[in-house]
Order: sequence, then C-alpha cells, then structure tokens
Amino acid sequence: MLLFYLTFLACLVVPSVSVKHDTFKTCAQSGFCKRNRAFADNASSISTWQSPYALDPNSIAFNDGKLSGTILKKLDNSKEKVRLPIIITFLESGTVRITIDEEKRQKGDIVLRHDSKVRKERYNEAANWAIVGGLEPNKGAALSNDAGTQTTKVLYGPAGAYEAVLRHSPFGIDFNRDGKTHIQLNERGLLNVEHWRAKVEKETIEPKEGEEQQVLQDTATESTEDESTWWEESFGGNTDSKPRGPESIGLDISFPGYDHVYGIPEHASSMSLKQTRGGDGGYTDPYRLYNSDVFEYELDSPMTLYGVIPLMQAQAKDSTVGVFWLNAAETWVDIIKGKSVANALSLGVAGKSSTQTHWFSESGQLDLFVFLGPTPKDITKKYGELTGYSQLPQASVIGYHQCRWNYVTDQDVMDVDRKFDKHRIPYDVIWLDIEYTDGKKYFTWDPLNFPHPDKMHKQLDEHERKVVVIIDPHIKNENNYHVDEDLRNKDLGVHNKEGSISEGWCWPGSSHWIDSFNPAARAWWKSLYQFKKFIGTAKNTFLWNDMNEPSVFNGPETTMPKDNIHYGNWEHRDVHNIYGMTVHNATHEGLIERKKGEIQRPFVLSRAFFAGSQRLGAVWTGDNLADWGHLRAALPMLLNQGISGFPFVGSDVGGFFGNPTKELLTRWYQSGTFYPFFRGHAHIDTRRREPYLAGTPYTQIITQAIRLRYSLLPAWYTAFHEASIDGSPIIRPNFYVHPSDEKGFAIDDQLYIGSTGLLAKPIVQEGAESADIYIADDEPYYDYFDYTVYSGKGSHTYKAPLEKIPLLMQGGHIIPRRDRPRRSSGLMRYDPYTLLIVLDKAGNAEGSLYVDDGETFDYQQGAYIHRKFSFNQETGILSSEDISTKGSKTAAYLKAMAKVRVERVIIVGAPNSWKSKTQVSIAEEGAKDSSKKKSVSLQYHAAAGGKGSWAVVRDPGVLIAKGWKIDFS
Ligand code: NOJ
Repeated sequence: MLLFYLTFLACLVVPSVSVKHDTFKTCAQSGFCKRNRAFADNASSISTWQSPYALDPNSIAFNDGKLSGTILKKLDNSKEKVRLPIIITFLESGTVRITIDEEKRQKGDIVLRHDSKVRKERYNEAANWAIVGGLEPNKGAALSNDAGTQTTKVLYGPAGAYEAVLRHSPFGIDFNRDGKTHIQLNERGLLNVEHWRAKVEKETIEPKEGEEQQVLQDTATESTEDESTWWEESFGGNTDSKPRGPESIGLDISFPGYDHVYGIPEHASSMSLKQTRGGDGGYTDPYRLYNSDVFEYELDSPMTLYGVIPLMQAQAKDSTVGVFWLNAAETWVDIIKGKSVANALSLGVAGKSSTQTHWFSESGQLDLFVFLGPTPKDITKKYGELTGYSQLPQASVIGYHQCRWNYVTDQDVMDVDRKFDKHRIPYDVIWLDIEYTDGKKYFTWDPLNFPHPDKMHKQLDEHERKVVVIIDPHIKNENNYHVDEDLRNKDLGVHNKEGSISEGWCWPGSSHWIDSFNPAARAWWKSLYQFKKFIGTAKNTFLWNDMNEPSVFNGPETTMPKDNIHYGNWEHRDVHNIYGMTVHNATHEGLIERKKGEIQRPFVLSRAFFAGSQRLGAVWTGDNLADWGHLRAALPMLLNQGISGFPFVGSDVGGFFGNPTKELLTRWYQSGTFYPFFRGHAHIDTRRREPYLAGTPYTQIITQAIRLRYSLLPAWYTAFHEASIDGSPIIRPNFYVHPSDEKGFAIDDQLYIGSTGLLAKPIVQEGAESADIYIADDEPYYDYFDYTVYSGKGSHTYKAPLEKIPLLMQGGHIIPRRDRPRRSSGLMRYDPYTLLIVLDKAGNAEGSLYVDDGETFDYQQGAYIHRKFSFNQETGILSSEDISTKGSKTAAYLKAMAKVRVERVIIVGAPNSWKSKTQVSIAEEGAKDSSKKKSVSLQYHAAAGGKGSWAVVRDPGVLIAKGWKIDFS
C-alpha cells in the first residue's frame, strides 16, 4: 500500500504529459453504458423497431396540474409486464417534471450480511438535495383528449401556449410551443428501464482438465442480452458487487430544428457540444457525468471531470429550450446531429437540422424537467427557480485570490502579503493548502510552521484581507486525533459493503470519509468550524473543500467503491454525484453558524459539484496545466458553467501543474481578470510565481490586469447580484446575449461581463499580438482603453501586444467603476465612482449599480443601494433612479454611504452638437431649492484617428445613494 501511495505522489510531482486513461472507464468498460448503447444500436438497426413501453390509457388520471399513470414494459420471454408508475407535473413556471419509477422496487431492503442492508428502491432523494423551489403545479393546465387518437394532450404554460402530446403506444411525449415541436421524448424508442429481477444462479459443469468452464442454460429462457455485468463488474482490479442487479434507466431526448446543444458540465470540451458517435470532428464515447479526480486532464474530450450538472439547453435562431436530468448516479449522454431530408424528391436539399441525445444513468428514478424557453435567460431563470441561484458572495471574494500549494509558514504568508503591498498589487484573499495542518489532520495547525495563525489573520485583517484554509472530507485514520475518534465513535463515516467504516487512501494516508448524507454527521461537521473548536481561525477565515468527488487514491477510478453504503441504506452508486455537494453544504452551513449573532456571508470553494451547488459558493476547473492549451480550454468551460446555472467559477491562473513562461503567465492573468472566480494557484512542485516575481515588464502588465479587475468591481458585483436573483450568468457567451445571431452560436472564446456590454476576447495564443473579435450586432463598440470605434457585424481585428487586453464596450450601456487603486476591495468601500456612459447608435444608454456592505446578510433587510442610470438623447438627461426595495436596515445603510459620490462621468460617443458645450446643469433629489440647479464644466473631445468622441464631467458633486439628473441639453 505504501508503495502504491508513493507511486501516486510521484505521479503528481512529476507531471506526465497526459491523463491516465487506464484509470477511467470508457463506455465499453462500463456495463450499463455498453448495454444502453447496444440497445440503441439494436433499435436503429431494425427498421420495424418499436419501443416495448406503452402508457396504459386506463391508468391515466389528471388532477390539479398533475397527470399520473402506469407505463407497461413488455418483456421478451414473458407474458408479465413490468409496471412503471409515471407522474407528469405541469409546474406554475411552465416547466414540466416527469418521474418514472418501478412498482416492484418501491419498497424494502436487501440484507447483505448481518445487519448491513441496501435499499431496494430506486433512489428518489436527489431532489431533496438539488431542488429548493419552483415545484408548485399549474392548476390551469388542461387535458384535451381527442377520442380515438391514442394520445393525451395537455395544454399548459403561459396562457396555455405550450402543449404536451403523450403518445400511448409506444409511449412518447412531444413538447410543442407556437405550434412547433421542440423536444421529443422516446421518439427513437430508447426508453430503457432495467427492471427488477431475481438473480438466477446458473448451473455450471465442473471443467475437466484443460477445458473451459461451461454454463448450463435453459434454452426456453435463454436471453440475448449481455448479462456479464448485471450482478458484478470488475475494473482496474476492483470488483463492484451489485446486490440489486441491472437497474439503469435510459431515454432518448430529441431537439428537432436545433443545431446546437450546450451544458452538461464538466468537460474540457467546446461549449457547443460535439457529436459522440463519430462523425465530423465528433467523439467516439458519450459525454460522461461522474464526479472524478482526473488530474492532468485531457483537452477536447468527453471524459468526465470533477463536477456534474445534468442540464442541457438547445439553441436555434430565436429559440432556446432545455432539459434537466435529475439523477445522481453515473450518467452518460450520447449526441447525434443531423439534417433530415425533407422528402425523397428533395434532391439532396437538406431538411431541418436536428440534435438527438440519448441519456442513461446507472440507477435511480427517471426524473426529468423540460423547459420550453423561448430565451436563454428563461432557461437559466427557471432552472434556478428549481435548484436555487448562486448566493451573493462577500464582496472581497470577487477580488483577486493568491494561492499555492503551499505557503509554507505563517511568516511566509505575512511576507507575501507585505510584498503585494510593496509592489502595489491589490489582492483580497490568501490561501492555505493541505500543508498548514499538523500531518494532514484537518482542523489542526502545524505547530512548527504555523505557530501563530492568530497573528497571521490579524495582519491580513489590517487591510481587510482574508485567509482561506483547506478542509477535505477524508479524515486521517489515527488514534488520539479527536476528529477521527468522533467520526468512528459516533459512527458518522461512510460504510463499506460489509457495514463497517469504509477505509481508503488520500493525502493523510489511511483515511475515513464523513457521510454527510447523515444529519448527525452534518451537525457534527458544522460544529467543527466553531471558532472555539477550530482554534486559530477568525472572522476572516474562509474555506476550501477539495477532493470531495470523493477522491480515494486506491479506490475504483480514484473514487469510492459504488457498493459502499450511506445513511438511509443507499448505495454510493445512487448518490455519487451528490456526495461533494453534501460536504460543501455542511461546510457552508458550518460557517454561517460558527458564531451566533454576527453572521457573515460564508465563502466555500468546492471542487466537486452537482445541480444546486451554486447556492453554496464557488468552484474551479481543477488541476489544469501551465500550457497554452489549458489557458484556451478555460473560457469555454467557464462559459458553459455559467449557462448551466453555476456562474461563480474560475480556473487556476498560471496553470496548476508545471511552470508557465512569463508570457503565458501574463496572458493568463489578463484572461483571469475575466474569470468570475479569479485565483492564481500552483502545484507544490512548481517555482514560486507571485505576480511581483515575474519582473519587468511582466509584473507591471499583470498588475494592470489585476487593477482592471479592481476598478471594475462595481460592475462585477452588480453582475453577481443579478446572478443571485435570476440566475443570469456572470460572464455570458455570444449566443446568450444575441440569441438571434446564428453565426455566433458556437463562439466560446469571447465573453460579455453581466449586462454591462463589456465584451472581452482574451489572448490565448502564444506570440499573438492581435485578436479577432466577433461583433454580433450593428451597435458601435468602443475600445475600453482608448475609445477606438469598431462597428459592423462580423469579425474585427484588435491589436493586442502583450500589454493590451482586447476589451470593447457595446454602445447602449452605463458601466460603474472605481478608479482609485487600493490594497484590497474592502478599502475601496467608500471610494467615489466613475460612470462610463457608452451611447448606442440612437444616442441612448442604460445601466445599473448594486452595492451593499459586502459582508453580512443585512441586504436581505434592505441594506443596499440599487440604482438605474439612463441617458436619453432626446432630453439630453442622464438620471439616477432608485430601483431598490426598502427594508428595516435601509436607512442605516444609506446613512453609512451618504457621502459616497460620483467623481467623474464620461460619455463615450458624445454627440457632435456638444462641441461647443462647456457646462451641464445638475438637479439633485432632496435639494432644498429644486429650482436651483448647479452648473458643472464639461470637456468635449472630438472623434479623431478612428477613436470615438467623448466628453467628461469632473466632480459633478452627485451622490451614489441619491437620485439626480444631469442635463446635457
Ligand atoms: C488537488 C487540488 O485540485 C489542488 O488544487 C490542491 O492544491 C491539491 N489537491 C492539494 O490539496
């Protein structure tokens, strides 16, 4: 074992060039994946194929927005039919939920040995973890049955504009909107519910010497199915016992008329998903969804990574629809795209494009949500109504984070902190990886290297900075370590199939894993974060939960055996993809509760995630490499996360494994300034690379990139706020902002920041000195730094030598920012604002600003400022309007912010008619004499040399918390 561990460590220390393929299964090595693909192949090879599933029309009942019934599955060799209860709920939001269960599995346990049991039921608790609302049925949904059509129709959604057409036999559902079918279930007949069956022990004949063992089979019941992985499956030297036998569920979901599908993170692939059954540029394996610790992951691959969100959206011109497959077991998704030929005489003229997908999970109920859009925003909003929106984080965590594995002593941390100041580089958070602990025992400090955590926290707090410490869910198996003793004595760990505590290997060596499905384990875990228990932590300590897929070095596919058992007698197989979220959840709650009275918003970074994890903090894309390919791969991955409901994401800036060249490091910081979660991180074996070490001119260029982030923090925080109330991505891909522009649907290397109109295209090619930015509309776009105008749909070349970041402003927006460089975001709290007004082609602009204390939950009682700014070219008036809802804490907050002012207004694209203008007049809300207007000077700069015109009003004397009008007419 020790040898294994050392070899494993060695692998981490000396990066090899590629992922260890033998560690992870391909579809052909996964029993249920192979079976479901074979099922699909069989169906498509038989022209007369009919799905063996039919909805029994006599079983259908419809009540208050809920349709229930029974699907009957025909069996090959038996008259008996398998009964599958189906419930279809038409929700108030216009979303539809479909669950399919199996009658025979609905009750009971299976006794394994002694008192160890597993639940016989199909796992039905994923929703308890993932769903937090939006389940109210739409009582207005109406059944409209046409006699004799063998279909059942339900009208639902806004003004009954949606229609679900249920075909009885073979069973299938079409979802229609505006008279068109957008989503089809079981259209290809791939619904597959592997039903409950008893294990038949096959009679074997003892082989004579030199002969192979023979299995006697009763020819009457002989099956053509591949049963080899039904009851047991081996991979990489591990054998998975399957006490419940085969139990996968599969379904085909087609999107007729849709060319692009996105989502189902996490994969190092393009945002617009590829075909998976060969074809031009396609993959040969399905996209896999199984939380895994895949270090040095491969790029352009459907291989699974650390987290899973089984949400997919399909995009066609002006139409977005989506599906959410709520299942926590291992899942694979096949994608085929094609053009249907309209009719035989069409002489090769292609018909409608279509994307066909095929989903299958190893166990659990079928639980599917269907969204009919029609906009990308409808999908993120409605998905968020179900699974929650990202929590508004502390303002500081939107700043820059400095991490490495490891800062070696508390002195080292304090030294790095001082050096950032010396070089005038702002940062907010410094991170401690596993080496701060006493021998990898979490909730302890290494007494030699971190003797004074209090002093360290105090120094950082002087500039409002924070410390993040890592706590992983594996607990060192050691006597006299109170955390492990508690875990064992109180029986709070995950069990193995024999029913005793499961043991495996991770950073500390032999370890146990908290079973955070167990309420008692969660209560205990939360208590560990109390200041009085986790001595040395303070108000400015935040958390990082790593390795929570969970990563088990000596487990199958580097994770936990699927036949391990969790609280409630569920197999690990059933809950695998949720495990990481349960740990993240308990830590998040632990931070909220660590001190009664003074509640701060928690911050917890997690590596594993599932649908719903967005409520709990941030995630990052794991162990990338310091190479250009990984820099390029980050943006599509982050954009994909954002449209999949989890927008607070980042990638290790600089690359985790290996040493970046200075050019790569610099370009990575320029790119990272646009990551919602902006953190530099590096492996223990890499050279130190804090930005101030890069040297001239790199340090200065990196500092500029970080300062750009800090000056735009007001815009970023406003975007985070938007995400927290309606699920809008913080960084947005082209299709999300321009859903009519088909040309931009596959673009995943440029991004918009929130609703600000800021459009960035970071440089991700070695040696590149320019970027081609794609503009999707006919608005003017201005260079952020010098107002050069770019206009006209299509691609524009932007010159970007090393010191330049391609960043444009789309006309029509007002961008709030703060221009005074400080050490940390906290120190900018009362700084004045600059408003950047970027006029559209009609001469108008609009924008907003959200501000609160950035720390507490007081904003929930109205302690915030929310303003809408507009400039109207007809009136020539720029106004600030209050769009907040007041609460009990509004007045106190407004008082605290009473003096914060706007120090500058810049109008980009200022009309020619202002050429001779030198003054603007200002009217303020609440001014004693409203007829008395102040006059302030304006400077106009005419357009020249490709640069747009602009005007500036310095110190207009208006306040951020109040209403005002600046009259430019
Ligand atoms: C794996 C994580 O992905 C990495 O970021 C971290 O530094 C190491 N674990 C050590 O904790």
